[in-house]
Amino acid sequence: MSSLRKAISAGAIALLPLVTAAVAILPATPAHASASLREHAAARGKFIGAAVATSPLANETSYRNIAATEFNQITAENVMKWDTTEPSQNQFNWTGADAVVDFATQNNQQVHGHTLVWHNQTPNWVQNLSATDMRSAIQNHIAKVVGRYAANPTVVSWDVVNEVFDDNGNMRNSFWYQKLGDTYIADAFRAARAADPDARLCINDYNVEGVNAKSTAMYNLVRTLRAQNVPVDCVGFQGHLATQYGFPGQVQQNLQRFADLGVQVRFTEIDIRIQMPRDAAKDAQQATYYRDVVNACLAVTQCAGITLWGFTDKYSWVPDTFPSEGAALIYDANYAKKPAYTAVHDALAGGTTTPDTEAPTRPGTPTASAVTSSGATLNWTASTDNRAVTGYDVYQGTTRLGSSTTNSVTLTGLSPQTAYSVTVVARDAAGNTSAASAAVTFTTLAGQPGGPCTSTYKTVNSWQGGFQGEVTVSCPAAVTGWKTVLTYPSGVNITQSWSSTLSAAPPAFTFTNAAWNGSIPAGGSTTFGFIGSWNGNGTPPTPTIS
Ligand code: G3I
Repeated sequence: MSSLRKAISAGAIALLPLVTAAVAILPATPAHASASLREHAAARGKFIGAAVATSPLANETSYRNIAATEFNQITAENVMKWDTTEPSQNQFNWTGADAVVDFATQNNQQVHGHTLVWHNQTPNWVQNLSATDMRSAIQNHIAKVVGRYAANPTVVSWDVVNEVFDDNGNMRNSFWYQKLGDTYIADAFRAARAADPDARLCINDYNVEGVNAKSTAMYNLVRTLRAQNVPVDCVGFQGHLATQYGFPGQVQQNLQRFADLGVQVRFTEIDIRIQMPRDAAKDAQQATYYRDVVNACLAVTQCAGITLWGFTDKYSWVPDTFPSEGAALIYDANYAKKPAYTAVHDALAGGTTTPDTEAPTRPGTPTASAVTSSGATLNWTASTDNRAVTGYDVYQGTTRLGSSTTNSVTLTGLSPQTAYSVTVVARDAAGNTSAASAAVTFTTLAGQPGGPCTSTYKTVNSWQGGFQGEVTVSCPAAVTGWKTVLTYPSGVNITQSWSSTLSAAPPAFTFTNAAWNGSIPAGGSTTFGFIGSWNGNGTPPTPTIS
């Protein structure tokens, strides 16, 4: 019966991430001013969670009461990490993890497992293994840790890999990476899926809340992994913010671009530190950051909820790591509510009694630039909205040519030497749409199908009935869009590609640039890949390229 409940919860989340996830935790209750954070969150279809430390959970009544009554989701701050769960090879210690899961079960809360594969808090015995043994250790660790709670409906999700990037977007040169390259990431996700097919599997990192080099690297990785059928269900944005660095840019748009890949998103470790000492102005500024985090999640349908990294300033990692900074949480060290608590509370409570029926304003007339034989870039003056604009769609008549979460889009896959007349429509989270903008007209350039570029094909991998292909597009002169057509013998089909936009009309398969890799400088190249199926044996057929 318990596994059935988990299957229902996890399955429903996959289809309808926000409403069902939280309703499964606590039935929606009408919001009112004195209601707890968890009541308001549930009424909005979100979770509100906190990381907990096991010592105060066992020993302090105030800590335990707040953890139980204000939150409907719990993450173990430390005790589900590798150094606690498997301190020596194949010797598992469940004391702390079980205590957290039992507490959550008693209080009708869900547990998010943190974390399976991380470069910190992993024992030396793991770090010293050979590559082969390290791979086996990952398999065994995940099978045992995830497997222990697979039939337990309280544990619904996992941070499978944590912090795999440097801040510049390069892969972190961790001991995992040094020994295994980036293969450990896909291996870990596949092992977690095998251990619990119903759990939601997340990749988690910090400094990825806004649009920046690191979050774009994460975006590209998630897209590539999913194109390879690696079971990445969710992206966690830690959210360790500091008021002296300002609020990250384009947080809502960043969540939305990940959501548009088909993954659930969530804030996983929110704390917002200030430079000590506290004063009223710093408290107020911190409160606006908390409010803006909550509102960004509320504005994105696929954002499942927000977990705070603790709740009382009495227990926080911040002062140990950043001397002279602290007070990062929503209760002070004496368990008194701070302005940040009120901000989270009121943001969660806001709008529950007043459905949003107001449409965004009409977008400005777009301008077209960088017109090529197959694409164009459009820019327009942004719309405004009483809540928030969540995206724009670009239409020719009733055909949607593209969409964007910002007031700019690069259209691809257009036909050469064709006149286009396009308009832009803004939308908000409630589905209200603006009036269409005035139209912009432009005509794509004449162009030979492949442009001035040449494409070379190779088969990367093949198996019974399937293969993975890769094409490198090389351009002697600069282009802002490209197209490669592969024609196969009958029986071949291609349904998935990455780093390109696929239009399949077997036996011809047309790949045009994705929004981000259309521009190739003179002498430059780019590579895209795809998965094909065919009904033969042996070596897969090679395509004709045009
Ligand atoms: O348990 C020992 C204790 O026996 C010993 O006396 C004491 C002496 O320093 O250390 C205790 O262990 C500490 C542990 O927290 C438990 O309190 C470690 O030193 C300390 O390094 C560890 O810090 C944790 C940190 O991760 C480690 O990287 C923090 O509590 C925890 O909040 C923090 O959480 C991470 C997330 O997992 C991932 N994202 C970033 C986040 C903040 O750094």
